[in-house]
Amino acid sequence: MDCCIVSALWYFVALYFLIHFLCFFFADADFTLLWACLVGHRPGNKLKGLVVWVTGASSGIGEELAYQLARCGSRLILSARREDELKRVKRQCLERSNLQDDDILVLPLDLLERMSHEEKTKTAVQYFGHIDILINNGGRSQRSLCLETSIDVYEALMELNFLGTVSITKQVLPHMTQRGTGSIVTVSSTVGLIGAPLATGYSASKHAIQGFFNSLRIELTDYPKIVISTVCPGPVQSQIVHNAFTEELNKPVTSAGNQEHKMSTGRCVHLMLVGIANGVKEMWIAQQPFLLLHYVWQYAPTFAWFITGMLGRKRVQHFKAGLDADCAYFTKPKTS
Ligand SMILES: NC(=O)c1ccc[n+]([C@@H]2O[C@H](COP(=O)([O-])OP(=O)(O)OC[C@H]3O[C@@H](n4cnc5c(N)ncnc54)[C@H](OP(=O)(O)O)[C@@H]3O)[C@@H](O)[C@H]2O)c1
Repeated sequence: MDCCIVSALWYFVALYFLIHFLCFFFADADFTLLWACLVGHRPGNKLKGLVVWVTGASSGIGEELAYQLARCGSRLILSARREDELKRVKRQCLERSNLQDDDILVLPLDLLERMSHEEKTKTAVQYFGHIDILINNGGRSQRSLCLETSIDVYEALMELNFLGTVSITKQVLPHMTQRGTGSIVTVSSTVGLIGAPLATGYSASKHAIQGFFNSLRIELTDYPKIVISTVCPGPVQSQIVHNAFTEELNKPVTSAGNQEHKMSTGRCVHLMLVGIANGVKEMWIAQQPFLLLHYVWQYAPTFAWFITGMLGRKRVQHFKAGLDADCAYFTKPKTS
């Protein structure tokens, strides 16, 4: 009899782990975020009526954030450099939601022009009276080998992705500490946690972001209603590769590559909004095998270096052969 109970227990445990393994196989976000998707607050309920400032709203993830936030009923401040693109996004937001024209402020902004950030923040606060959520999303990536990359590119990456983000955050933060409430959400990246070839400067700028916001979160423990979140997406469909820095400052990327294997922008943004609605502090959003890599890097770093060494080598080989490095794991290089 005892033997039967023990066997049944073993089967139960095995089944439990099998279910988890299968869930993980199909997962596209970390377990905290997926749990929030199942049982947490719905973005539509939590974000309705809130004032959300999105940087990098003229394209890709930021543009999709604008659409989904508009459908949630959030009031929006849309920022990026290209005003005409922001106006297009605003028109689309109005068409896709019940928002009125004055619920969306188009506020052109260059993250590199730090002197302008105080004035821009004043304009945003004056327009709606306050800011509930700042989403630091604007940024650029990199596709170049360290040995071939000018130091100016490294400077530009840090100026934009790190200092530009810190500068806007420093302008908005006093406003939130005065009110005692607010959220600052920053789009980092998988490469903010994990090293990646062809992106030494980009990865460094996103690691800097992670360090800054992880430290800021601890500094703000006296403000329990201010939430600091970082989002670490894997590959997502957008203009990121097309707009990436290369070896020299003004040299464009030759091939923007294939987007098919990447996560859809809609899914990435939906998961982000669930995370924001539930105050998740760090969100890992990536399809497999990239999600698995997050876990291995975190919990088994020595094994992770071995795997990333193998995968990274293939990526560099693809790049040197003039092929799309982003597809290195999904296609075979053609041999002549
Ligand atoms: N797509 C991915 O695979 C992926 C993965 C991980 C993390 N991310 C991060 O997600 C964020 C959004 O990128 P995306 O994928 O949506 O790329 P994207 O389509 O190229 O969008 C980038 C946005 O940043 C804005 N931007 C660039 N330089 C700027 C500047 N100097 N001042 C103000 N805004 C600036 C661009 O607008 P303007 O050109 O009009 O200024 C654009 O709206 C970035 O921080 C990126 O690092 C993306």
